[in-house]
Amino acid sequence: MKDLLRINTDLYQVDEKEIENRKIRYRAYRDLLYCENPLDEIQKINIFVPEAYYHDEKIGRYDRNNVPVFLPNTVGGYMPGPADEPGIDSHNKKINSLFEALEHGYIAVSAGVRGRTSGKIATEFFEGSKEGKLGKETGRMVGRAPAFIVDYKAAIRFLRHNSDLLPGNYERIITNGTSAGGALSALAGSSGNEKEFEPYLKQIGAADERDDVFASSCYCPIHNLENADSAYEWQFCGLNDYHRTKHQRTETGIIRVPDEGMMSEKQIALSKKLKDLFPAYLNCLELKDEDNTLSLDEEGNGSFKKLVKRYLIASAQKEYDSHSNEKELSYLMNEKAHIDDQEYLKIEEGKIIDLDFERYVNQITRMKQTPAFDDLMMKSPENEEFGDENIDARHFTAFSYENNEAENNEMADPKIISLMNPICHLDHDDHTITKHWRIRHGSFDRDTSLAIPVILATILKNKGCDVDFALPWGLPHSGDYDLDELFAWIDELCNE
Ligand code: DHB
Repeated sequence: MKDLLRINTDLYQVDEKEIENRKIRYRAYRDLLYCENPLDEIQKINIFVPEAYYHDEKIGRYDRNNVPVFLPNTVGGYMPGPADEPGIDSHNKKINSLFEALEHGYIAVSAGVRGRTSGKIATEFFEGSKEGKLGKETGRMVGRAPAFIVDYKAAIRFLRHNSDLLPGNYERIITNGTSAGGALSALAGSSGNEKEFEPYLKQIGAADERDDVFASSCYCPIHNLENADSAYEWQFCGLNDYHRTKHQRTETGIIRVPDEGMMSEKQIALSKKLKDLFPAYLNCLELKDEDNTLSLDEEGNGSFKKLVKRYLIASAQKEYDSHSNEKELSYLMNEKAHIDDQEYLKIEEGKIIDLDFERYVNQITRMKQTPAFDDLMMKSPENEEFGDENIDARHFTAFSYENNEAENNEMADPKIISLMNPICHLDHDDHTITKHWRIRHGSFDRDTSLAIPVILATILKNKGCDVDFALPWGLPHSGDYDLDELFAWIDELCNE
């Protein structure tokens, strides 16, 4: 029987692209089905290979056998993430990571994955998303949890299935993503070859291959959703005014819609209750820093909070010494983040010796109303992500289920909730957990609590993984802003 998942290597195009006097030449294999029984037309993959590797040339120290494979996704807001092309990101007007990766010599791959709005037209827009089509009204909502990670895995399996036909080392696949796409990258890293995904992969006809990856790069991963509400209030309780900007796609491009206000008395009361839930969750993780167990008391104070502060102080110190984000990332940095204006930092002889956490939180302000993720009306992106083909949205926390304000009150299947959480996959060892992790979360990012990435990084470190974690100073919810450093990290790993 013909193997439908083998690439016909005669079908390619040699493309050349020049942007800002930077030129790349590559072979493109486009629009390949990466699974035999796709449920949505987004389930296709583009593979881009620097043309040099077809002429026995090297790029830096890479040749056609040892070159790593960079696999960024375009997921934002748990929306569908279509396969992309090397070029300019039309949203932020910067050269995108596929172009940069090819220029650097990597094989660059972009796979389209389903999302919560697959099957309908959607006008929302999120960081990390590809600005593109509004979707199609097929009426079949086939992209709800855990579809995005199932598709990402199927794409990884497809690459392995064809590794003998392509240049590249498919034991050196590196995932990358921002926000919900960062969560997706973290899921790929934490759940390699996890058997629980097998039925989903069978359903779409994925190749029978391994789906673990070499390294995961995660920018501001919006993950650990069932604990994100209490983590949010651990950080923001007491701040009752919220300030956010939503993005919307229109005929003429993306517009920003401000959404600001005061929380209701009821929300303020719920905020306190959620905050009170966080220490018990944190304590049961039994996180360690060196040999000490990290904990929080009932007020939310303790060694874990000190660890979060240490990461912030390290970030502030770096910026204080170099002003590098202000110099190099001024287009992105929060306007209230100038390091010399942060009065909550205690500085002695050029050393930042303390940070007043409550005043720092006041400076960055609250973005989301309580509950931040599991909305009582089930109107959040995450509620929709936990819907399915028949039910549009569900709760994923007992707290919001009990305080439900929507007409229907549905709770997501606990099994699907845990399949969607990288932290749950790190709980057991009967599958492959990526060794190498790079996690970045801007110090002015308020889309989720700082506790969330710190928990992820700490669990990984405690498991013996190699973790490069930082809270880059003053940056908001965003990604791909330091690709040179990301690529240097990858190169060093590949050099080992
Ligand atoms: C994203 C941002 C959010 O605040 C959220 O709740 C989910 C996803 C995002 O940018 O992908």
